[in-house]
Amino acid sequence: MSTVTTIERFILEHQPDFARGELTQLLYDIALAAKIIAHKTNRAGLVDILGEIGATNVQGEKQQKLDVYAHDIMVQLCEHTGRLCVMLSEEQEEIIPIPARYEKGSYVLVFDPLDGSSNIDVNVSIGTIFGIYRCLEDERRGRLEDVLQPGRNLVAAGYVLYGASTMLVYSTGQGVHGFTLNPEYGEFLLSHPNLRLPKPPAYYSVNAAYYSRWSPGVQRFLDWLEGKEDDSPSVSARYIGSLVADFHRNLLRGGIFCYPAEQKRKDGKLRLVYEAAPLAFLIEQAGGYASDGRRPILDITPTHPHQRVALYLGNRSLVERVEAFIRQEDEQ
Ligand code: AHG
Ligand code: MN
Ligand code: MN
Repeated sequence: MSTVTTIERFILEHQPDFARGELTQLLYDIALAAKIIAHKTNRAGLVDILGEIGATNVQGEKQQKLDVYAHDIMVQLCEHTGRLCVMLSEEQEEIIPIPARYEKGSYVLVFDPLDGSSNIDVNVSIGTIFGIYRCLEDERRGRLEDVLQPGRNLVAAGYVLYGASTMLVYSTGQGVHGFTLNPEYGEFLLSHPNLRLPKPPAYYSVNAAYYSRWSPGVQRFLDWLEGKEDDSPSVSARYIGSLVADFHRNLLRGGIFCYPAEQKRKDGKLRLVYEAAPLAFLIEQAGGYASDGRRPILDITPTHPHQRVALYLGNRSLVERVEAFIRQEDEQ
């Protein structure tokens, strides 16, 4: 019988330098939040958790009840533990300070509490994305600067995928590891140790309906991807509309996810701090690469907490190819 490894045991056995620290505890807190959110998503059609709350978030997007629920769970589980100095959520404009009545810790948590909101009401996979930094000045309570660090400073990142099963995938810089929730006893069990991007890539993910909005270089890249050149790769199209679900499939099978900039939306749609940077950290840990089309995502220092960025991430050969098409266009 293969050994049953819970996420708690894995963290203790594989990151001894963190095993007794705040970071390990913080990862446990996030795993618990994932279980609670999963419990709701698995019944979304039955409890009053579907649909919009009638509010819009800082992105100007209609908030779904589950967006707000997941945001509240992450904050409630993490704000009082003494492990964090500040948090940032997609669902709240300003940074989330640790209330004065609670001890502050030395980590920063940035998160997209519910990714793929447009898929909630149609029962398609959705997720949670998180990134963890160290506070810049240990003796101070968290400040805006703490959430505006480049992705290179991440000490950990991961996501939860609420799909056919609930998975938690994370890295603390020693490879990427996947855990599947066993609902019988509510434990995340190690199911995908040491995930590495397979070669050759099998898929590409992009919202092809926006083709006419992209720059000529990006259009040429998509033409190439779709087999119009002699040296085109042989890849299939898969696009779910939940970044976490598209990312996870491409991580397991090889591929590229693209959300290009558009003529009218120069920075694309996805957010640098709590979507692009944590996933860029993971994809590099799995042997891949993430770019905004001109430079590595992990090298970009945010100037605004909700800053948007064009995003290409997956097999390095594909991401470097789109950079080449964009460079060619820039040089014309
Ligand atoms: P969120 O629900 O957190 O706002 O994220 C939605 C994002 C991402 O999950 C997905 O890749 C993208 O929106 C889909 O955008 P389009 O519907 O424009 O393709
Ligand atoms: Mn999202
Ligand atoms: Mn979201």
